Amino acid sequence: MLDRNDASYAERVRSLAPTTEPERQYYFVDVCRSLLLEREQQLGRKMTMHIETFGCQMNAKDSETLAGILNAIGYVWTDSEDADLVIYNTCTVRENANTRVYGRIGYLGNRKKLFPERRIVLCGCMMQEEKAVEKIRKSYRFVDIIFGTHNIYKLAELLFEREATGKFVIDVWNKAKEIVESLPRVNKYGFKAGINIMYGCNNFCSYCIVPYVRGRERSRSASEIVAEAKHMAGSGVKEVMLLGQNVNSYGKNNGEGISFAKLLRMVSEVEGIERIRFMTPHPKDLSDELIEEIAVNPKVCRHVHLPLQSGSSAILKAMNRRYTKEQYLALVERIQKRIPDVSVTTDIIVGFPGETEEDFADTVDVVTKAQFMSAYTFLYSKRNGTPAAEMDNQVNEEVASERFQRLLAVVGEVSHQQVKRLEGQTQTVLCEEYNEETGLMTGRLENNLLVHFPCGKDLLGSLVPVVLSECKGFYFLGTKAD
Ligand code: SAH
Ligand code: SF4
Ligand code: F3S
Repeated sequence: MLDRNDASYAERVRSLAPTTEPERQYYFVDVCRSLLLEREQQLGRKMTMHIETFGCQMNAKDSETLAGILNAIGYVWTDSEDADLVIYNTCTVRENANTRVYGRIGYLGNRKKLFPERRIVLCGCMMQEEKAVEKIRKSYRFVDIIFGTHNIYKLAELLFEREATGKFVIDVWNKAKEIVESLPRVNKYGFKAGINIMYGCNNFCSYCIVPYVRGRERSRSASEIVAEAKHMAGSGVKEVMLLGQNVNSYGKNNGEGISFAKLLRMVSEVEGIERIRFMTPHPKDLSDELIEEIAVNPKVCRHVHLPLQSGSSAILKAMNRRYTKEQYLALVERIQKRIPDVSVTTDIIVGFPGETEEDFADTVDVVTKAQFMSAYTFLYSKRNGTPAAEMDNQVNEEVASERFQRLLAVVGEVSHQQVKRLEGQTQTVLCEEYNEETGLMTGRLENNLLVHFPCGKDLLGSLVPVVLSECKGFYFLGTKAD
């Protein structure tokens, strides 16, 4: 037994730790669990945790791993930020993502003045930026632990270091080491889950910070991915979302030579997995093999999220997207021809440096021609360290906002038409939420739209056919088909 009051306690714990992963982390989970039990006895209650996730599905997935580790230690989840341990898993893709985080850490700090035993942990993409970490060290001294995107699996070890040393712990790596598999995880929804198929990005779009904070592309082994899908199916998951910043590059760097289309096929062969989504393919290298797989594989959702970013070939070049307006439109046409009932959705940035009124008109033109089911629109946000931040032709904020409003109107109109087209169709939906008061189930279509329809609660988590009786703008009211 280790005696906690022994001066060399921390040294001894460290010296006994295995050197391989994930064994090392399971060891620290055990150590943390015994520390937590002591604390629970002193307090006469369970210790609580709360994780706030900012940003994309990759971060959401990482948060599930963090929650899994804390769960294994013995923390119990609470929806409130008044928890013994609060983690902010941060995003830095646009400036407003950062601003939101700073505002909220301030609140946590005020609460910690009343409850000094609380622990505040910051991790994720924003922590990969030296400037952000510096600012936190200076102005938010109550933060206990900071780590980045490459070592989230080390949470238990870092928590131990915080308790053993009583000091602020910072551990941010500038690049990834090995991919650590087999960590404990929790799945937020019982019936749907994300699976990382790759990490990082090699594309370096000139506006984007992701390659700097997530590192180079690393694909997981196909057998690990299939094993995870099987494990999930065994615990009741029906729908999986395969996640990567550019899923088309899957398998190009792990020596297995399995393409993304083949991986889709392999996952679809897992018994119990009934529906598969994926995010995000890059238009520059979306293969015909992939289009074919979506067309013929009934488990793959007929939904392609295909980020456009801009409709102007000149701006696309400056963005380093490596396709032109014409190539993008030709690709959408190819997809729509081979998969007639497909929904295409997109991301668009307005106000990229040098964007003229003509460039913007090209974006509007593509939106009208491609007939997107929906589009996420973003005002360009300057990210330090990216090539676009150095460009000297930044667009005036007012001009950009005015274009943004115009684009919203066009997108609204186009997507409303597309949604309306589905009225009267019967589609398979995954029953995701049941409202006891109204007796209505909320289901999600293949293309992510929602439909509310009356049925029993027992259908929660199953796939059922629903008639989309009435289009209510961007969702439907429906009835269960027989
Ligand atoms: N890997 C995906 C998207 C990652 S980020 C892809 O390549 O499409 C999600 C979206 O955020 C992007 O599609 C882009 O539209 C937007 N985005 C990224 N950086 C941005 C920036 N600096 N300013 C505004 N929007 C940005
Ligand atoms: Fe960013 Fe481009 Fe990579 Fe997407 S593909 S994450 S936009 S650099
Ligand atoms: Fe944000 Fe990081 Fe995702 S910067 S969008 S959370 S990869």
